[in-house]
Amino acid sequence: EIRALIDRLERDRTLHKEEFIELLTRYTAEDFAYIREKARKTAQSIFGDKIYTRGLIEFSNYCRNDCYYCGIRRSNGEVDRYRLSKEDILKCCDIGYELGFRTYVLQGGEDGAFNDDIMTDLIVSIKEKHPDCAITLSAGELSYESYKRYFEAGADRYLLRHETANADHYAKLHPERLTLEARKKCLYDLKDIGYQVGTGFMVGSPYQTPENLAEDLLFIKEFQPEMIGIGPFLPHHQTPFADQEKGSYELTLLLIAILRLLIPNANIPSTTALGTINPRGREEGILSGANVVMPNLSPVDVRKNYELYDNKICTGDEAAECRMCLQGRMESIGYRLVNERGDFQPLI
Ligand code: SAM
Ligand code: FES
Repeated sequence: EIRALIDRLERDRTLHKEEFIELLTRYTAEDFAYIREKARKTAQSIFGDKIYTRGLIEFSNYCRNDCYYCGIRRSNGEVDRYRLSKEDILKCCDIGYELGFRTYVLQGGEDGAFNDDIMTDLIVSIKEKHPDCAITLSAGELSYESYKRYFEAGADRYLLRHETANADHYAKLHPERLTLEARKKCLYDLKDIGYQVGTGFMVGSPYQTPENLAEDLLFIKEFQPEMIGIGPFLPHHQTPFADQEKGSYELTLLLIAILRLLIPNANIPSTTALGTINPRGREEGILSGANVVMPNLSPVDVRKNYELYDNKICTGDEAAECRMCLQGRMESIGYRLVNERGDFQPLI
């Protein structure tokens, strides 16, 4: 009985591995509606009709890594590489502030040009101008010392998806230099330092099995991240995974609902990849229990060059258009964007 499993997941906030696999592989259309409603109610009991917004600034598309799935991987010689200057980034923040953003997400490839001195100076400068804003970093694997310096400079949160909690699967998605062990160490380092930490995975990445997804869920339960980001895998035509099938839209929505029941107070975004795979994806993500959206604040002239997968949405839209667009989308389903930092709050 899948429904009994869903009830138990809601009550115990977890399931056993075999039970997760059963839920993921044997659910019916009724079960799908049932768990989404539970997840939505859970999110509403904590966040009401509020949707937190994060302004995404894609500050560099240089990357020393070569992840097989990623459009800006080092080996992709076709990418027009760019780095935003400090002035560019501060300007994005100012525009974002006016639009109501109180969190900036600085995301980029692993670009050594943004060394510790440059990053800390950037973080300090943003905080000086906008002391009421949170800074989230998403810049990959760094040393404990670097993470600590950025935290002390004023960074509040860090996004680093674990990508898959199975080491063999991890090795099928990344070149040898990158390991699940190193990724997990970074996640625990970030937590230890005091960041609000986000992790997550792609749904339907090549070679992923239902068992792998169950392992992802159990890892997340154990790690207790403050943020959880998932989205469907989408192929990019200039990568080794160009011909792989994209992830499932429906399964992504199911997993968002499961994650909401697993960690009720986590900040869970309805991601750009979800909006790319389906025109109503971001609305449906919210209706599955997500509570965050991340409109793009990057300058329009570099947007197209941060193409992680084919047909990424919003590459031609100004920051204000993206914000307004999402505001309309959220209002159409009975939610509203709020101008708050939206920090993780422990359950009382
Ligand atoms: N370099 C940082 C890192 O690796 O964490 C941040 C940027 S990285 C491009 C951000 C995320 O994009 C990855 O964690 C990955 O899950 C996602 N991503 C990359 N390629 C993708 C694809 N083809 N489809 C869907 N998501 C993808
Ligand atoms: Fe960017 Fe809709 S969110 S155009």
